[in-house]
Amino acid sequence: MSEYNQILYPTHVHSETHPDTLARTAVLFGMDPPPVQQCRVLEIACGDGGNIIPMGFELPNSEFVGIDSASIPIQHAQRVIERCGIKNVTVQALDLMEFGRDFGTFDYIIAHGIYSWVPETVQQRILAICRDHLSPSGVAFISFNTGPAGRIRQLTRDMMMFHLRAAGIEADPVREGREFLQTLVDLADETSIWKAVLWEETVRLSKRPDSVTYHDELGSGYSWAYFSDFAADAERSGLQFLSDATLSDAIEPPSKPEAAEALERLAQGDVIKYQQYLDFLVFRGFRRTLLCHSGIRLKRSRFPERVQTLLVASPLSKSSVEPDGGVVFTKRRASASVTTNSPIVSLALERLETDWPRAKPFAELAREIAEQVPPEQKEDVPAVLAQGLLKLAANKLVDLRTHQGPLAASVEERPMATSLARLQAEATNLIATLLHTQVEISDPQSRRLLQLIDGTRDLGALVSAMMPEQGVSRDDTETNVRAALEAFRGMGLLVST
Ligand SMILES: C[S@@+](CC[C@H](N)C(=O)[O-])C[C@H]1O[C@@H](n2cnc3c(N)ncnc32)[C@H](O)[C@@H]1O
Repeated sequence: MSEYNQILYPTHVHSETHPDTLARTAVLFGMDPPPVQQCRVLEIACGDGGNIIPMGFELPNSEFVGIDSASIPIQHAQRVIERCGIKNVTVQALDLMEFGRDFGTFDYIIAHGIYSWVPETVQQRILAICRDHLSPSGVAFISFNTGPAGRIRQLTRDMMMFHLRAAGIEADPVREGREFLQTLVDLADETSIWKAVLWEETVRLSKRPDSVTYHDELGSGYSWAYFSDFAADAERSGLQFLSDATLSDAIEPPSKPEAAEALERLAQGDVIKYQQYLDFLVFRGFRRTLLCHSGIRLKRSRFPERVQTLLVASPLSKSSVEPDGGVVFTKRRASASVTTNSPIVSLALERLETDWPRAKPFAELAREIAEQVPPEQKEDVPAVLAQGLLKLAANKLVDLRTHQGPLAASVEERPMATSLARLQAEATNLIATLLHTQVEISDPQSRRLLQLIDGTRDLGALVSAMMPEQGVSRDDTETNVRAALEAFRGMGLLVST
C-alpha cells in the first residue's frame, strides 16, 4: 500500500505551476504557447487535489486531468470535486507507469514534488510522458531537488534514518528525527560550520507540517541531481530547458555585478552551464524547471519586447514619496515594498492599483501613460515601462499574465465566491483564490461571510445574516460587511458573474 495512503500529504496551490504562469514565461522566451483559456492540463501526482482543483475555477473553459498512485487522496479530491460541482477537473488513481496513450495530448503538464522521491525508472517515465503527451508548443513543469544544497538535505536525512534504525524507533519518527538533529546542534562545537549547517536544517524542518516532513525527508525515496544532469536527461528525452518557473533566475542577473560577469565568463554562452554555476553560487536545493520540446527556437534576450504582448496586474499601493522624489509602493498583504524614481513606472503602478486584482493589457496601459507624460517622453513610454515592469515581475512585485481570469472588477450586487472557497471556509483558514494563491482568513466571522456569498444574496441579505444577536448596530454591521467584501475582492476571492 502506498505510503501516501497511510500518512496523508496535504496539497495546496502552487502559483508557479499555474498554466498562465507557464504560458507567460513561454511568451517571454519567444514561444507561442497554447491559449490558457482553452487548454488541456495534466497534473502528475496531484494528491488530494489542492493544486489542480482551484485551477478548474480559474480557467473554467479548460480541462484538467490529475493522476496519483495513492487512492485515498484521490478519493478525497473526488469528493471535493463532486461537492463543488466542478465539471472540468477529473482525477484518477493511477500509477504513472501505467499512463496510456489514450490520455491524449496536454498543453501544460505539471509534475511537482514527485521527481526526486521516485526511482530512476519512474523519473525517466515522467520525462517520457512529457515528451509523448505535450502538445507541440506546450510547456512542462518538473520540480526536483538539486545539488549542491540537496546533498546537505540528503546528509541530514541519512543521519536521521540511521538514528531511527539504530535506536529501533518506529513511533513518531518525525519528532524523534527532529529531536536527534536538535541534539546534534546543541552539542556541536559553537564555532563549527557543521553546527550552522545543522541549525539551518532544523529551522527548515521546524517550519513544515509533520506529514510533509515524514514523506519528504523520511520516506522510502529521496534523491537530488545537479541541474546540468537533469537538463541532459531531459534533452535525451527530446525536451529542452525553457526557464526556471521563478522569473528572477531567468531574467534578473545576480545583484552583484561582478557575480553576473563571472557567471557569464564561466558559462561562455551556454545556458545550462550558466544555470549550473548559478546553483553553485546561490547554494540551491530545489528547482522548478520548465521544459518544452527540443527544436523550438527560444529567444533568451530582449525580454522587454515580449512584455508588451502581455497583461499586467499590480498588487502594489502607493504609500509615500521620498525627499528625492522616489515613490514608495507597498505590496498588499505582504511586507515587500519598492521605490521607483521613474515617473512612467510610478504612473503605471498608480493606474494598476485601482484595477487590482484584474490585469490590463500592456498596450492599453502604455497608451494611458503616454497621455500623461510630456510630449518629448511619449515615445519612450513602451520601452521604459516594459523594462520597469519586467524587473518588478522578476521580483514578484507585479504579475505578468496572458489572460484575464474570472475576477470581479467590483463587489457585484450579489457577490459570489467559488463553491471551493465556500467549502474550504467551512473547515479551514486557508482558502484558494482565483489568483492561484492561498490566503489565510483566521477571523471566524469573515469565514462565515465567505460561506454566505454564493451569488444569491445582496448586501441587505448579507447584513441581515451577519447581524450579531446583540451589541452591534445594523449600520456598523453593514460597514463591516462592505469592508470584508472589498477585502475579499482584493484577495481574488470574488468571481465576475
Ligand atoms: C510529495 S507528494 C507531492 C504531492 C503534490 N504534487 C505536491 O507537490 O504537493 C508525492 C505524490 O506523488 C505520488 N506518487 C508517487 N509515486 C507515484 C507514481 N508512480 N505514480 C503516480 N503518483 C505517484 C504520491 O502518491 C504522492 O501523492
